Amino acid sequence: MTAPAPADLAPSRLAMVPFVSVANMLRLVAEVGVETVLTELADAMEEDFRRWPDFEKVPRIASHSAGGVIELMPASDGRLYGFKYVNGHPKNTRTGHQTVTAFGVLSDVETGYPLLLSEMTVLTALRTAAASALAARYLAPKGARTMAMIGNGAQCEFQALAFRTIVGIDTVRLYDVSPEATAKAARNLAARGLTVETCRSAEAAVEGAGIITTCTADKQRATILSDNMVGAGVHINAIGGDCPGKTELHPDILLRSSIFTEFTPQTRIEGELQSLPPDHPATELWEVITGAAPGRRDGAEITLFDSVGFAVEDFTALRYIHDRVEGSSHVEMLDLLADPDDPRDLFGMIVRAGASAAPRPPGQGGPAGHSGPAAAPGR
Ligand SMILES: NC(=O)c1ccc[n+]([C@@H]2O[C@H](COP(=O)([O-])OP(=O)(O)OC[C@H]3O[C@@H](n4cnc5c(N)ncnc54)[C@H](O)[C@@H]3O)[C@@H](O)[C@H]2O)c1
Repeated sequence: MTAPAPADLAPSRLAMVPFVSVANMLRLVAEVGVETVLTELADAMEEDFRRWPDFEKVPRIASHSAGGVIELMPASDGRLYGFKYVNGHPKNTRTGHQTVTAFGVLSDVETGYPLLLSEMTVLTALRTAAASALAARYLAPKGARTMAMIGNGAQCEFQALAFRTIVGIDTVRLYDVSPEATAKAARNLAARGLTVETCRSAEAAVEGAGIITTCTADKQRATILSDNMVGAGVHINAIGGDCPGKTELHPDILLRSSIFTEFTPQTRIEGELQSLPPDHPATELWEVITGAAPGRRDGAEITLFDSVGFAVEDFTALRYIHDRVEGSSHVEMLDLLADPDDPRDLFGMIVRAGASAAPRPPGQGGPAGHSGPAAAPGR
């Protein structure tokens, strides 16, 4: 926390932007309940997917480096504008950093003024899980009770809980190359009442699972699932292939699957689809949700949600959190926007700040902030 400004530099109402810190996001989720947040987020996302054509949409802007990627993800419905800053650095956990961290902003399109600044690391895990479960509600085989979870890192528990709450699974079969990661996920999920089976290989994990989630992190073309591991009728929720050169599935699986995306132009660059020719058919999830395209057609079909994470999902998450925290104690107000009395006299704010900071001769002026017209409220 910074020191409070002197009274003459005290921020005006327009200068202040609500901020949801990590601590407040955690408090909010704990109070509301993870399952409720996941359900409400999935419902809000479904609403936004139903009005998909209203959104201005672009593939995210990615800055790649040897170890990872930093991305900006903007979306607008003409009334609100949201963007997320997010990174993906698969080697980060070795140095105690997370693979994915994020924060985001929701703004009023009319003035361009931010309405909310929020942490989005926790929120991304929630929104990704909500989106996966929403897709599975339309695509997974009816009555699927068991999900294989390959990759038991930061996203894992969120995915498993969303699938229990929204899709109705009761059993997870966990596998990770790191037994510690699997043990952590097993502990967390068993404590939540899920039946947890830990497995020694990905092959073992997928046995008997109607839904397979791949959620690994590696900046390469990995083969987490090979063709022989995928039987007829399963739903694959592929989360970890989300960058050029970073995929999880053998291309032969894609050739046997009906492929569903968030926003196909972005998925062709970043998702499993990058392994196929650019004209390979794919259906966007909003088309299934609105009934414009069929979802799962029969019990033998392999459905694949080729998730990369799309800006509209983050827009939904920000809009949801904005509504949830309004008027609550889960926000702090940040002095984020310079707000001069005369909107064109931005420089005057610096002049007044200088005057306010200058040492005053003894006996002249009161306490800082009450020293006459030169220091009139300028914010
Ligand atoms: N699609 C989306 O919207 C979305 C959103 C968030 C994260 N992601 C992606 O999901 C992935 C997981 O994210 P996270 O935050 O959980 O990362 P994380 O680093 O916390 O966890 C990844 C786990 O995968 C395991 N792993 C790596 N290679 C493996 C392999 N070959 N077999 C089995 N396990 C393996 C690691 O040991 C680790 O435990 C990342 O690739 C991330 O970029 C996608």
